[in-house]
Amino acid sequence: MAQRETWATRTGFILAAVGSAVGLGNIWRFPFQVGQEGGAAFLVIYLLLIIAIGFPVMIAEFVIGRRTNRNPVGALQRLGSGTWRYVGWLFFATGFLILSYYSVVAGWTLRYVLLGLQGDFIADVGEAEAQFVSVASGLDALLFHAIFMAAVLAVVGFGVRRGIELAVKVLVPAIIAILVGLAIYSFTLAGASEAYSYYLSPDLGTIADNWRSILPAAAGQAFFTLSLGMGVMITYASYLGEDRNLAEDGGIIIGLDTGIAFIVGLVVFPIFFTAGVDPADPGAGAIFVTLAAAFGDLTFGWLLGAIFFATVAIAALSSAISILEVVVSYLVDERDIDRLPATLGIGTAIFVVGLPTTLDLVLIDLYDKLVNDILLVLGGLILAVFVGWIIYETALDELEKGVRDLGSMGAAWIWFLRIPAVIGLLVVVALGILGYYEFLTGDFADWIGDTI
Ligand code: PFF
Repeated sequence: MAQRETWATRTGFILAAVGSAVGLGNIWRFPFQVGQEGGAAFLVIYLLLIIAIGFPVMIAEFVIGRRTNRNPVGALQRLGSGTWRYVGWLFFATGFLILSYYSVVAGWTLRYVLLGLQGDFIADVGEAEAQFVSVASGLDALLFHAIFMAAVLAVVGFGVRRGIELAVKVLVPAIIAILVGLAIYSFTLAGASEAYSYYLSPDLGTIADNWRSILPAAAGQAFFTLSLGMGVMITYASYLGEDRNLAEDGGIIIGLDTGIAFIVGLVVFPIFFTAGVDPADPGAGAIFVTLAAAFGDLTFGWLLGAIFFATVAIAALSSAISILEVVVSYLVDERDIDRLPATLGIGTAIFVVGLPTTLDLVLIDLYDKLVNDILLVLGGLILAVFVGWIIYETALDELEKGVRDLGSMGAAWIWFLRIPAVIGLLVVVALGILGYYEFLTGDFADWIGDTI
């Protein structure tokens, strides 16, 4: 086996991890989850889960990766006994499924770059919604899915990741700058104050009434946006030297990721409230509809919009390659398949599995809910049990490297994994399964009924 690569620069790891975390999860998925789950009630639960569960699980993944220098399957097998191998397979399957529809959504962003360049953004929210529907399914969706997937394969297959490390350096600040500018624009809109109270002042009654759906949605979103629960952070930390302070790195990644999602909310909701649209309505189209409307309203909006969607597409690319990297690194490390054929073969399979989601938005939901409300949180639950209860001594030993004085933080971390994370995630997985069953027998069954 070839000598394993390590990150070229001290910041290489942080950049790649931020590149993985920041993507469609922050910009596309976050606002429509907030919209569907009632606004601020969702936001508080989400933030709590990021801190209480997301952060400890991220450190757990880092520790496993750095300790073993292996892909997730090999890493779990080395640290645990043989049955842990199946967990690695769960990660493999989850990654496969995520990328299949992630690429479709990323394709929409590419299509929106073109809409901008053609001067086709529409200021009217109703019409922008109709425009979104035509972009999001059918031939357009399929074509741009193919283009995006080809780009992902090119990057992973030829190993030009260093280019991505560099791109992230420029991209993340660019995304933040454009979003802050848009948030200021949104602030000037008539619906802003109503939107802020919807987004920022939680109503305990809403939480009490709807926690059964808010909890799995918020936990799934937390894992998705932080790239947790399927081994990406294990893989990336496996290329890491022992001098890094894992807790500090985790804090930076989570701070940036959460900050970006939060600003997206400040952009999106004032636009909906100004136009009189219920933020729950456009669902997966939320960001496309509102931004097309905002850009359609601005002088030079077409240009700003094209730049923005291009930036989002590249952010999606850096996330997508991290997903494919998990899948490919397993085939390369454990199955001795060469990198290029492994990438091409698995990439083609992922493309094909994604095809149904170009037919109708309900099929995006079918994949997306399975991944977020069940698979990622299940992955997180297993990791919390594994690190918190089984390999905690090794884990603490690994965390100490690169940290001058861990103090009581190490013990606190293990206890967060053991109790809040394990119990919280058990509840979340159970609710996620129930919710998914309801979706299958409800919206999905209706769709099948209408189509056949
Ligand atoms: N975190 C990415 C985003 O927010 O777009 C998506 C993602 C990447 C999810 C990697 C899961 C993953 F393992």
